[in-house]
Amino acid sequence: MNSDRKVINPNIIGIVGSYRKHGTIDTAVSEILEAAAQKEAHTEKVYLQDRHIEFCTNCRHCLQAPGRGECLLNDDMASLLDRIEAADALVLGAPVNFGDINALTRRFLERTVCYSYWPWNSPAPIRSTAKPKKKAVLVTSSAAPRFIARWLMVPIKTLKELASMLGAKPIGTLWIGMVDPKDSKLSTRNHQRAQQLGADLAKLS
Ligand SMILES: Cc1cc2nc3c(=O)[nH]c(=O)nc-3n(C[C@H](O)[C@H](O)[C@H](O)COP(=O)(O)O)c2cc1C
Repeated sequence: MNSDRKVINPNIIGIVGSYRKHGTIDTAVSEILEAAAQKEAHTEKVYLQDRHIEFCTNCRHCLQAPGRGECLLNDDMASLLDRIEAADALVLGAPVNFGDINALTRRFLERTVCYSYWPWNSPAPIRSTAKPKKKAVLVTSSAAPRFIARWLMVPIKTLKELASMLGAKPIGTLWIGMVDPKDSKLSTRNHQRAQQLGADLAKLS
């Protein structure tokens, strides 16, 4: 999408990295997308668990040229990245497992290494200095209360890394603490925050 052009009906993709459909992350991502849709955005939700995404094998084939490198694995990653590249904004959601994003989302994150440039003769990857063109909202959830979890756990830092790899700049976060595994309904506060974030995404895109 050309960033110089005013986007009238932004295309927003929500990525659900949770293992649970209709769980907390799914509910929160859905509410953000619905709020954006009310502001005329086109929205789409993707469950990582429904995609065939292999683990990165560290072959570094994709890293030998600047830009998005070709991955040798034959799975759904390339088509998913095509859709993400065509979007104007992203919602990235993953629950906290052992203090960080869960394994399903991390596997996806590792595969975004194809946007890095790390030639064999270089000791470290060469970071792209391109400015992010998309906006992102980051969503996480934890059994621990949010105000404690934020100090002890790092999912937002990792989701920021994911947003950066996908060429997106976070404009807001939603952290749902003290999740009840049997009741995914958002609290009034979290519902209002989701509404606001969705509206902001649609407006800013
Ligand atoms: C394997 C595993 C590890 C977890 N580790 C943590 C943790 O370190 N801290 C925490 O607050 N919650 C932890 N949780 C609770 C999850 O964060 C919580 O169930 C999740 O946010 C719910 O999201 P969902 O409804 O989308 O599945 C863990 C859950 C599982 C299954």
